[in-house]
Amino acid sequence: MRVPLFAANWKMNKAVSEVKPFMTGLLERLHAIPAKAGTQYQVMVAPPATHLITAQEATKNTPIQIGAQNCGQAPSGAFTGEISPAVLKEIGCLWVILGHSERRHLYLEDDHRVLGRLQAALKEGLSPILCVGETLPERKAGQTMAVVERQLGILKSAEVSEKPLVIAYEPVWAIGTGENATPDQAQEVHLFIRNWLKTHFSPAFSEKTRILYGGSVKPENSASLMKKPDVDGFLVGGASLEANSFSGIVEKGLKSRS
Ligand code: PGA
Repeated sequence: MRVPLFAANWKMNKAVSEVKPFMTGLLERLHAIPAKAGTQYQVMVAPPATHLITAQEATKNTPIQIGAQNCGQAPSGAFTGEISPAVLKEIGCLWVILGHSERRHLYLEDDHRVLGRLQAALKEGLSPILCVGETLPERKAGQTMAVVERQLGILKSAEVSEKPLVIAYEPVWAIGTGENATPDQAQEVHLFIRNWLKTHFSPAFSEKTRILYGGSVKPENSASLMKKPDVDGFLVGGASLEANSFSGIVEKGLKSRS
């Protein structure tokens, strides 16, 4: 049984001064989720890198885990503007989002670059959330599975099978647009990813790997998406900026499972 994971991607939003009030509010709301709605679940928040230490301090000894939105391909060195995965580990980060579509499309990170970051993250013991997903023209051209398969391909060069890995399926056309994939569309791709993991690694690895959906997730659609057997949680952008809406996604998603 895979433990649902609800991950918040704040992107380049919020001031450092907003971190503590947000975490306090989120903790209160998570505590209020009726026990019957929740089996076990995990919550992760990925604020901007400048907010990580504050976020770590604000969530110490709480169930909220902290993640980064990207990391460099080496523990240290001449990489201006990059964030060391070793230092992320040092400050208490457990997670790192990699290959997000904004990194791929706005900053031209290709699969090779994402692989370097993935290998460095794994080496430092960070848990990667690898994002994959097609653009609208790719979907319209019937290339969704081919694109996802190509993006997953980097896993063959990384020693992932012994490590905790999370995949996030985030169709680019659904990110920040208000138009989410339908539960059936999400399930179809999630199942494809699960089968790909089974073929290229093992049935056990495929079974235990969590596959999140991301792209315009909100409290109103989290239950229907989470009802699908291969949707193991969410990577949430816009709706994760308010404790109320993020906790609403957690609560409704969990309820649909109980
Ligand atoms: P969104 O972003 O929830 O605002 O669509 C999701 C993401 O980019 O991870």
